[in-house]
Amino acid sequence: MDKQKRKAIVAGNWKMNMTRPEAGELIKAIRPLVSAAECEVVVCVPFTDLDAAAKALKGSEIRLGAQNCHWEPSGAYTGEISVPMLRELGAEYVIVGHSERRQYFGETDQTANRRLRAALFGGLKAILCVGETLSQREANDTNDVIARQVTEGLREVPAGRLGDVVIAYEPVWAIGTGKTATAEEAGQACAFIRGLLAGICGDEETACGVTIQYGGSMNPKNAAQLLAQYDIDGGLIGGASLKAADFAAIVEAASK
Ligand code: PGA
Repeated sequence: MDKQKRKAIVAGNWKMNMTRPEAGELIKAIRPLVSAAECEVVVCVPFTDLDAAAKALKGSEIRLGAQNCHWEPSGAYTGEISVPMLRELGAEYVIVGHSERRQYFGETDQTANRRLRAALFGGLKAILCVGETLSQREANDTNDVIARQVTEGLREVPAGRLGDVVIAYEPVWAIGTGKTATAEEAGQACAFIRGLLAGICGDEETACGVTIQYGGSMNPKNAAQLLAQYDIDGGLIGGASLKAADFAAIVEAASK
């Protein structure tokens, strides 16, 4: 499939930032700057901001996302948030398996997979994050790590549901560090992921249609080069998504 025909998605991952009034202000600033976007624009906000963000987004094309979800629809899971709760607040997307959840909160490929399936079967689109650490890259384990994370993360997901899955390739060493993978490194990893998807679903056409984002210190300066890579269809943006002008500049780069 032609890269141009794939849906490019630029998603902001606000992480643990922004009170409700701050979220409202940021969305107010972003809205006019991305109104002519030719890619999909998503903001993945903290749970506590979802309601305020949904209201601030009314009438705009920007989609709302969360940063995690539990796999059960309800029950005795203190501190957790379910997919029906997210949907009721207007979320359309949810990030699963982010490296910060893997690193600090015991997330595994198995729990990421449970969350992803719950999201899909509960009516959300899922952004599955994968990526190697610096030591894994240095040990030449990048492809093995990505293969495991993608395969396990998508376990028991029917090929027909891949249209609601976005894969975000985020090398852990590039997240929040200011170090970006070179466009070629990022492009190669995303091409490798697309090959894995073709193997998993047994259908090249489906794999070719999946949106694969790059994430890790993407900013207005490096976005165009990264997004020009054939297999990179957008970005998952952390730090730069908290600045309206920077986020909008990345959206513009993805719209070309
Ligand atoms: P960063 O974060 O853009 O701040 O590196 C990306 C992410 O963690 O999703």
